[in-house]
Amino acid sequence: MNQVYQKVTDCYESIKDRIPFTPKVALVLGSGLGNYADSMDVKAEIDYSEVKDFPVSTVPGHAGKFIFGYVGEVPVVCMKGRVHYYEGYPISDVVLPARLMHMMGAEILFLTNASGGINPSFGAGDFMLITDHISCFAPNPLIGQNIDELGVRFPDMSHVYDIELQQKIRKAAADENILLKEGIYVQLTGPSFESPAEIKMLRTLGADAVGMSTVVEAIAANHMGMKICGISCVANLAAGMTKNPLTHEEVQAAADEAAPLFKKLITQSIISF
Ligand code: HPA
Repeated sequence: MNQVYQKVTDCYESIKDRIPFTPKVALVLGSGLGNYADSMDVKAEIDYSEVKDFPVSTVPGHAGKFIFGYVGEVPVVCMKGRVHYYEGYPISDVVLPARLMHMMGAEILFLTNASGGINPSFGAGDFMLITDHISCFAPNPLIGQNIDELGVRFPDMSHVYDIELQQKIRKAAADENILLKEGIYVQLTGPSFESPAEIKMLRTLGADAVGMSTVVEAIAANHMGMKICGISCVANLAAGMTKNPLTHEEVQAAADEAAPLFKKLITQSIISF
């Protein structure tokens, strides 16, 4: 068997007896959303360290576990803490959690993150529905022998972010009176923030927000035929757009401040899926 697929299978085998239900939605929590599970009806938790050979995150604020619970009536597996490429893991490990949650039975991958706003009409604290992405600055997670069990060699990428889910998220935002911007998310590897020249380049290329996650997970999930949606919390305006230098602490603080509204938006969205 393909070694990458074998690893996903081994991870699954090591925890399958502890999974309380077949999740419908796999929710990846970005910065600021770490305690989202407090608002869920939690049925089980599995620490990443308990999953055989699972890549364990090293970033402060990204302590890791899978949390299984209900949002309304919807069974959700939630990732508290994700794996970032800049931590030094191979890209196949970065997308391993998405593949594992698909193996658990999740049909929908709901990606969240904090980002830097590139679109000049965005402000810190805005939410952006991800309508498409730019992946060319991060390694493609499908490079290497194709995992035929998961999907085809050359997957179509015309509609990565599911149109119906986008519509449901727009409606959830409107129902809750939450302003929802929309745009294109670009993933760079990090861990350094971008230079002002890079931000200018990314704007020219059509990106509205920049971050260090999400796109590679979306590519792997799209390969597997999952329905994908994503919301980015614009934590700051990107480099060069204000006089302020960027720090992880400030990004985290801004994401924390936006978190209560973000949680509401996620809950209302999931309930409508
Ligand atoms: N750049 C990249 N990633 C980010 C940023 C940023 O400005 N803000 C939050 N995550």
